[in-house]
Amino acid sequence: MEITNVPRHVSIIMDGNGRWAKERGKERVYGHLNGVESVRACTEAAVEAGVEYLSLFAFSEENWNRPGSEVDALMGLMMQSIRKEVGTLMDNGVRFVVLGNRARLSEGLNAAIDSLEKETAGNVRMTLIIFLSYSGKWDILQAAKSLARRFAGDPEGLDAATPADFENELVTAGIPDPDLLIRTSGEQRISNYMLWQSAYTEFYFTDVLWPDFRKREFRKALKAYAARDRRYGKVK
Ligand code: FPP
Repeated sequence: MEITNVPRHVSIIMDGNGRWAKERGKERVYGHLNGVESVRACTEAAVEAGVEYLSLFAFSEENWNRPGSEVDALMGLMMQSIRKEVGTLMDNGVRFVVLGNRARLSEGLNAAIDSLEKETAGNVRMTLIIFLSYSGKWDILQAAKSLARRFAGDPEGLDAATPADFENELVTAGIPDPDLLIRTSGEQRISNYMLWQSAYTEFYFTDVLWPDFRKREFRKALKAYAARDRRYGKVK
C-alpha cells in the first residue's frame, strides 16, 4: 500500500538491544549486533518511502558511562558498519552524516567518519544522520556559547538574536526539525535527545525491541504518522 503524507524527517531512539539479548540468554553486544540489521532495514524502508532525512540516536553523551567493554563494542560496531556499508549507501543515493561531540570519538573513528561523509556528500536521495556522543543539553549549550562568541562586543546584536539565529548554531543547522520521532522498547521519554528540535515533533512509541524493528514496523509508524493532525499550537 502506498504511504501518504510521508514525513520529511524521521528520527529514531533505538532502544531495547540489551533486553532483546537477555531474552535469548546472550550478552548485550549480541543485541547491538542484531540492531545493526534493523538500522539497515529502516534505512532501506525510509529511502523506499521517500523520507528525506532519517536520523538515529546511536550513542548518547551519557552512554560513555556504560562499562568500557560495551562502549568499545559499540564503537567497534560503528567502525565496522562504516567500512561495510559504503556500497549500499552509494547504491541508494544516501548521504551519511554524523552529529555529536566528535571530540570524544577516537582518531580512527573520526577519520573513518570523515571519509564516509566526504564520499557520500554528493548523494541526494536521502540523508542518514547518526547521532554519536550526542545529547540535547550538550547541543543547546554549545550553541549558546557559539552565539555568545558570535556577538561578543555586540550586546545589541545579541539582544536582537532570533530563534533562527540560535538554530544556526545547533549541530543540526540546515536540517529540518524531526516530523516523527520513534522510540522502541516501550520506554516513553526523550532521554536528552533533540530537545530544541523536537518542539513540535510527533511521537510514536512501540513495545517492539530495536532488533525486531524492521521494515514492517517502520511502515506501521509512517502510517500512524499519516493519521496525525499537526496544529503547531494554532487553531485550524
Ligand atoms: C539501545 O539499547 C541501543 C543503543 C544504546 C545502541 C544503538 C546502536 C546500534 C543499534 C548499533 C550501531 C549503530 C549503527 C548506526 C551502525 P540498550 O542497550 O539501551 O538496550 P536496553 O535498554 O534493553 O538495555
